[in-house]
Amino acid sequence: MSQDLAKRKAAEAALRYVVQGEMLGVGTGSTVNHFIDLLAERHFDIAAAVSSSEASTERLRAHGFKVIDLNAAGPLSVYVDGADESNHQLQLIKGGGAALTREKIIAGASAVFVCIADESKLVDTLGAFPLPVEVLPMARSFVARELVKLGGEPVLRANVITDNGNPIIDVRGLRITDPRALETAINTIPGVVTVGLFAHRPADRLILGSPSGVREVV
Ligand code: 5RP
Repeated sequence: MSQDLAKRKAAEAALRYVVQGEMLGVGTGSTVNHFIDLLAERHFDIAAAVSSSEASTERLRAHGFKVIDLNAAGPLSVYVDGADESNHQLQLIKGGGAALTREKIIAGASAVFVCIADESKLVDTLGAFPLPVEVLPMARSFVARELVKLGGEPVLRANVITDNGNPIIDVRGLRITDPRALETAINTIPGVVTVGLFAHRPADRLILGSPSGVREVV
């Protein structure tokens, strides 16, 4: 419950980045759900949202927000999304909610990426949270073997298929001391759609919530 309150506080603090009348990138997860609900509760007037998942699209539309395709939106000024882990450089592990591919695309298309999370997500070294990797179905076993060569312990996420129709491999046992190098290495394995390491395009702001308040890391 206190973690949920911390998520809501972080989400609330991100509202100040929302520009009324403009398009907004919106991510996925329980922290973002608070953000979407707050946008509605506080009557924010955005032109449209670009969403990173079917789940967020449904929630946005249920509140009456217009949701459009990224191709129709063009560059976005702000993207608000959660994370499973962040280091002090604002490099992230994402994909616990299986939306990593669309999240990485929208982050790449946005000028400012505001990451919202409860304070437990800030770590010195990424990797305690299993690293999600979305793969094409036929490449699942091959990619898993390649991930073992990189020092990880790959586990197929049970009963999960992404919005793009692909399985996810969660990689345990990694201590990620060079996130950019690992992101590049995993990206170059044939069959990998997206690795949930956001190191080449980290967040620009990290808002960490706790039950008593928020702090912002830039
Ligand atoms: C979804 C994500 C989420 O942002 C991440 O899993 C954090 O979720 P939550 O806000 O529920 O802790 O990357 O793919």
